[in-house]
Amino acid sequence: MLDYIEKTLFAVRSVGLRMTLRTVWNSWRRMRLEKNYPSSVVPPSAQPRHPGELLSAQATQRGAHFQFDESFKLEIEFLTPVMARISWQPSPPPTPYAVVRQEWPEVAVTLEEQGDSWLLSSPALTIKVHPCGTLEYLAGDQSLRIETPPQLDGSSWQQSASLLDGASIYGLGERAAPLNLRPGNYGLWNTEQSGSYRFGADPLYMTAPVYHAHSQKGSCFLFYDNSYDGEIEFGEQARVQFIGGGIHYYFILGAPEQALAQYTQLTGRPPMPPRWALGFHQSRWGYASEQDIRQVVDGFKQHDLPLDVVHMDIDYMDGFRVFTLDQQRYPDLKKMADDLHEQGIRLVTIIDPGVKIDDGYDVYQEGMAQQAFCKLPDGKTAVGLVWPGWSVFPDFTKPATRTWWGQYYARLLDQGVDGIWHDMNEPASMSAFGDPTMPRPMRHDIEGRGGDHEEGHNLYGLTMALAGFEAQQQLRPERRPWLLTRSGWAGMQRYTWLWSGDVGTGWDTLRMTLSLILGTGMSGVPYIGSDIGGFTGHADSELFTRWFQMSALMPFFRNHAARTTPRSEPWVYGEPTISICRRYLQLRQQLMPYIYSLSWQASQSGVPLVRPVFWVEPDNAELFKVDDSFMLGDGLLVTPVLEEGAMERQIILPKGEWFDFWSEEKYIGGQQMSVSAALDTLPMFVRAGSLLPMSQDGRIVLHVYSPLQGEGSHTSQWYDDAGDGYEEHQLSQFAVSRRQGALQVDWTVDGQFPLPEKLDVVIHGVEPGKVLLDGEEVQPGSHLRSIEPFNQMLVYPG
Ligand code: GLC
Repeated sequence: MLDYIEKTLFAVRSVGLRMTLRTVWNSWRRMRLEKNYPSSVVPPSAQPRHPGELLSAQATQRGAHFQFDESFKLEIEFLTPVMARISWQPSPPPTPYAVVRQEWPEVAVTLEEQGDSWLLSSPALTIKVHPCGTLEYLAGDQSLRIETPPQLDGSSWQQSASLLDGASIYGLGERAAPLNLRPGNYGLWNTEQSGSYRFGADPLYMTAPVYHAHSQKGSCFLFYDNSYDGEIEFGEQARVQFIGGGIHYYFILGAPEQALAQYTQLTGRPPMPPRWALGFHQSRWGYASEQDIRQVVDGFKQHDLPLDVVHMDIDYMDGFRVFTLDQQRYPDLKKMADDLHEQGIRLVTIIDPGVKIDDGYDVYQEGMAQQAFCKLPDGKTAVGLVWPGWSVFPDFTKPATRTWWGQYYARLLDQGVDGIWHDMNEPASMSAFGDPTMPRPMRHDIEGRGGDHEEGHNLYGLTMALAGFEAQQQLRPERRPWLLTRSGWAGMQRYTWLWSGDVGTGWDTLRMTLSLILGTGMSGVPYIGSDIGGFTGHADSELFTRWFQMSALMPFFRNHAARTTPRSEPWVYGEPTISICRRYLQLRQQLMPYIYSLSWQASQSGVPLVRPVFWVEPDNAELFKVDDSFMLGDGLLVTPVLEEGAMERQIILPKGEWFDFWSEEKYIGGQQMSVSAALDTLPMFVRAGSLLPMSQDGRIVLHVYSPLQGEGSHTSQWYDDAGDGYEEHQLSQFAVSRRQGALQVDWTVDGQFPLPEKLDVVIHGVEPGKVLLDGEEVQPGSHLRSIEPFNQMLVYPG
């Protein structure tokens, strides 16, 4: 109740009383429509159906078909030796938005009868089909999962599966929950949070029916290609239920890193972003004018705070009409963009899907003429309520609508806008009660085959991203598209970044956003961040500082807040906040070559930039639940301070050898310890053997962290290119090892993008007595300045 009152008050303050009253009418109307139109969702009867008994099995090219009575058929196909697609027929086909790959190399599959069961095997995985339709997944002798046959009831279906003892669960998209989702019960319906949310809110704006079950005995990954509303419960067992749609899912064998590599072969990988997007973004709902934005930019300059991107929220539009500009407050957007570009700053503008109903507004008129908007079953255009008032919603599952919508992006890109921010695309329709979205009977085209909002809802943000991405590709083919979204679904990583929406302000929410970001990355969506300081409240300087520090090491680094809050640019807080923010902005710049290289890794294998700590020690069950620290790549362990007043914290250092990033003190991992963390310190540790490509004043600096005693070779990468476009790149591989006391770095390069002529190398962990670069002795020192790229470096301790 309190929450409800708080949200209503927030609504009144942000949109005014008149709009708040309209939300009552909107909710009532949606309820009435949902009552009046028959739904495609058939409620459960008392008589669930099962596949019955197995009658026959038949091998196919890459799998087998199993015929059951009740005319159920089970189709299993191995797409790779570790990835199987399972479909139960008859059931409606999946939508074509998540899975992009159709062709797969051959897999050697065998089908063998064993008693009254069948064994279908690839070289890595066996699926045992029991006579009642139960499926058991085995890697060698290890049984990983036993799954009951689906049970159908009305249009809904459910299934239960065993989970290995101690298995941790990760994924399901964005969750305001601990990193390990077990035990817990989660919804699968993308949901706008009406202004603010905290720990425990569920579901959030972006759900994805994917999860890892990770344990010491084995790991697997599930993806249900079904966009209907549903529920997943992780307890003793995993129980999944969808209220409609087909029974099509994928089982992937492997630890999270390998599983994500497979899953993103199926659903696509995140393309390389333009480098600027990895910089710092300043945003605010409520920047009143061009003047205001220019002053903010000047503020960054005056305080010597590096700034890469400025966002323009809905304030720039004329009465919140998308693709328009308030000419009074933004008289010359092009000039403003040009001026920003001159200072090396990029511009991002928000776009909401809701189009104001206004006969004098071309986007509305043309959309109506093109039949671009979602309709109700009676053929009338569906109406919802968003910032501009009564609005209609483009149907992005219709190809012609995507093309029509996409051409309007030229209005912004032609003015010099660099990237686009998609918001309110669950889609949100402001409501006083009930589900704050469009009515479920609303129709969608779904590439011509037709469907309703029960099926189309979760696809809305994803298909809007598809439209926005293709528009940018078409309009500006020489540049990489950049999109940010609030909502999405499985596969969205192909097109867009994500942020965690309207997270409330507090220490609890700072803590929560960390597990949320980790879990989203493990769902295949690596580019995500949260509004620094929270969206709805005003963080005090300590909370702001800690949030800022953590975000500086997150994939998406943005300061943003609601218009109802006091300003929160770093200087609002005075000192020492300004200096601390400067320090972390500079750190971000210094780490850019490393972070950019992680982007390249994500584009090649789907691996998230920010990973749970167990990533570096996947067998250590102690680490499975750790969600107050994270790895940025494989080289950096980040342990942010997440508690008020804390000037130290407990950390778990995974096994291996580590360096304190700041003090260079060395530690042997596999222990818990306390680290001090004054307000200006974000505790960070570098894994020995890592080579971190960094930059300092425009010069590349390779930081080599020598293995302390460990033998063996550690590999690090440095990827570089022009920062945008699709021209040449270079990929450096470094093998770092320690042999008989000497530190050895072998450097190989692939690609045509030129390496810098001169660079620096900083050696950590060895006091150099003698240094050989490609056999030639150079002046020893731990900071080698202005040297040429080499093939081999040998450092003998002094
Ligand atoms: C939504 C967004 C928020 C934005 C606001 C106004 O609440 O989540 O980021 O500032 O709308 O556009």
